[in-house]
Amino acid sequence: MKEGQASILRDTVGLAQWVEFVGRSPMQDALPLLAQPEIISFALGLPSPELFPTEALSRACSDVLSGHPQALQYGVPSIALKSHIVSLMRSRGVECNERQIVLTCGAQQAVSLIVALLLDRRREVIAEEMCYPGFRQVVNFYQPEILEVPTDRETGMDVDRVEWLLKTGACPAFIYAIPNGHNPIGVNLSQEKRSKLLEVSRRYNVPIIEEDPYGFLSYEGGSETPLRAVSEDLVFYVGSFSKMIAPSLRLGWLIAPEKVTGYLAILKEASDIDTTTFAQHIVACMLESGFLWPHLRRLRAEYQRRRNVMLAALPGTFPRGSVWSIPRCGFFLWVRLPDEIDTTRLLKIAANEYRVAFMPGMAFCGNRDNKGARSSVRLNFSNPSESLIEEGMLRLGSMFGSHFGVASIGQK
Ligand SMILES: Cc1ncc(COP(=O)(O)O)c(C=O)c1O
Repeated sequence: MKEGQASILRDTVGLAQWVEFVGRSPMQDALPLLAQPEIISFALGLPSPELFPTEALSRACSDVLSGHPQALQYGVPSIALKSHIVSLMRSRGVECNERQIVLTCGAQQAVSLIVALLLDRRREVIAEEMCYPGFRQVVNFYQPEILEVPTDRETGMDVDRVEWLLKTGACPAFIYAIPNGHNPIGVNLSQEKRSKLLEVSRRYNVPIIEEDPYGFLSYEGGSETPLRAVSEDLVFYVGSFSKMIAPSLRLGWLIAPEKVTGYLAILKEASDIDTTTFAQHIVACMLESGFLWPHLRRLRAEYQRRRNVMLAALPGTFPRGSVWSIPRCGFFLWVRLPDEIDTTRLLKIAANEYRVAFMPGMAFCGNRDNKGARSSVRLNFSNPSESLIEEGMLRLGSMFGSHFGVASIGQK
């Protein structure tokens, strides 16, 4: 929507005021560019299609259809699935019960419900400068003041800045964080910062929305313990089966203090009555069969290989002075190029001339003057195969060679 167009529509068609404050996500805008033939895309956050568990899904579909025809009916949220989620969370050090869980259509809906519960119009919220665009889309309906804090590519959110904001009078409805496999930066929040964030949230009595769609995809050592393991009353945890099984199931969950789940259930019912009953039964059946842990091991090993291929290619691809994150979890890494390079403009050259695509940093930033975002890119390594990653990085390398007069001169 062009600037001003929303307010004209609002006056002529009588639309509500929020239409002036929201926009399409940059991902949607990038789709036509990415749909061009022969493009190698590092742009979107898609899981690998080769790793979809099609056989396990097909077995579960047939078992559910023959054994549980009520799976096609309206129904109450699956207690069996909630019990599996309780066990999954226990494996990460989180104690919760079924009454604290609300099943949702993916992490996106979970965040949207929690935001609707906590955020009044025009209130403040704390979030990172570089932020998952789906979050901005959700909160923009409420026209909040987003108090932004920077993110360090090695240790995550600047928690000292969060503390400073609270100390100097900010009164946010919540703090939004992605502590594992941050989208877009690809960093895990350090242990020290986790403890401090929890302490600050308690001292100022500010809830945290902990978004964790990548938390089960950890590539080195064990998974990080979620913030929710430590704070039951102030952390709203969000999980998802999108990256673990398949996004088209549209199945996720939130864990909230038991006293508020009734309100979340009302918001959920008002929004879409129920999370797809069929998907709930299918996933419960898959988890019952013990399929998930071997599957997760396979995903972690394969995504770790792809990450390593991309990391190995970076120094020979990006211009001198570029720096990047080394993700221990999730789907993305973040490269900051020298300040003079505008990656939004570069994307057109990359896609049209070299048939390779990435997400420019500005897609994740609300401030058009942010130099760091302007000269950065987010690269996805989960979707393309190892050989496509190698080929895509070669293409990027030749682009930098021709357009900046130098090749193979990355740093770190
Ligand atoms: C931080 C974050 N939240 C939410 C989503 C969407 O997840 P879901 O498919 O579970 O709604 C994504 C996916 O890209 C994400 O990276």
